[in-house]
Amino acid sequence: SCAPLIDPFARPITYLRVSVTDRCDFRCTYCMAEHMQFLPKAELLTLEELERLAGAFIDLGVRKLRITGGEPLVRRNIMSLFRVMSGRLGNGLDELTVTTNGSQLSRFADELADCGVRRVNVSLDTLDPDKFAAITRWGRLPQVLGGIAAAKAAGMRVKINTVALKGFNEDELFPLLDWCAGEGHDLTFIEVMPMGEMGEEDRLDQYWPLSDLRARLAERFTLQPLAERSGGPARYVRIEETGQKIGFITPLTHNFCESCNRVRVTCTGELYMCLGQEDRADLRAPLRASADDGPLREAIRTAIARKPKGHDFDYSRGVAGKVSRHMSHTGG
Ligand code: GTP
Ligand code: 5AD
Ligand code: SF4
Repeated sequence: SCAPLIDPFARPITYLRVSVTDRCDFRCTYCMAEHMQFLPKAELLTLEELERLAGAFIDLGVRKLRITGGEPLVRRNIMSLFRVMSGRLGNGLDELTVTTNGSQLSRFADELADCGVRRVNVSLDTLDPDKFAAITRWGRLPQVLGGIAAAKAAGMRVKINTVALKGFNEDELFPLLDWCAGEGHDLTFIEVMPMGEMGEEDRLDQYWPLSDLRARLAERFTLQPLAERSGGPARYVRIEETGQKIGFITPLTHNFCESCNRVRVTCTGELYMCLGQEDRADLRAPLRASADDGPLREAIRTAIARKPKGHDFDYSRGVAGKVSRHMSHTGG
């Protein structure tokens, strides 16, 4: 039963993203609707079920576990999940990590570090408090900056995730770069993906291709492409003048699906084999049907056997290839 997970395109699946809640204390405009209908709490997997689910994937060869949401740190008692999963570090698991909006990091940074979390990814699209409040619909920038500082003070590496948004943060490219250099944070830019409601075509209007962003960087700096990967979708360059490492996540301008190593589970136990496709498999039923992991492992294998080749996001055909669910549903 413990042969590793290999998908139909010979890609080993070694990275699991687990969304622990669909809720978030912010409402980033590209991620959620303003008035989201959240799931009734009874629909959610319990923390014990999430532990078992993640454990089954680790038994099947997953080596990197990322906790996501919604905002994972707003789930009640979430540290108990980190505590239990930290027990698998060095025992199947190489990396336990989290993607967060940073709002609760001041509270949780020390405990996360104590659970063996060595890196946190924090979403931050602007350093301007008013723009921050606008993009998150009400978030407070100082709270997030305080959280980021707490993560650094706790000894964790911080990677800032910035969604590149035309007309929103184009003018902040160099300020963001300087701030990250000063603080010692890594920085990764992300192309905005056509997910969720696209009615007003806002995502298309805001699409800023990273090929363009990169060209702007190259006007000022010498960029040295790096071969190294983080196990995630980013490709990296080093800025020779500053030594800074910058990541690019480019689903639109440079599809990276051929090296995909990941799947994601939602907080209700749905396994999405691809972020950019609708196909999914229910893992909650096999999880609850038996205290034995056999049926669950079988369901996971069956699902991986139909992992698609990749997404078909494409703005060049308007909003064709869009996915109707919100990013917050699968945690990215
Ligand atoms: P690292 O471990 O630091 O490499 O993290 P990561 O990039 O794997 O995770 P993170 O949660 O920081 O995700 C950054 C962005 O990458 C998010 O916008 C995700 O939606 C996006 N992303 C992650 N995996 C995929 C994928 O398989 N396809 C696409 N299109 N985007 C992805
Ligand atoms: N396109 C690209 N990235 C997105 N994120 C949320 N919604 C989108 C989108 N439509 C990012 C968040 C966070 C990560 C998990 O996904 O900013 O950094
Ligand atoms: Fe919340 Fe993250 Fe989505 Fe923003 S991107 S609404 S912080 S889950």
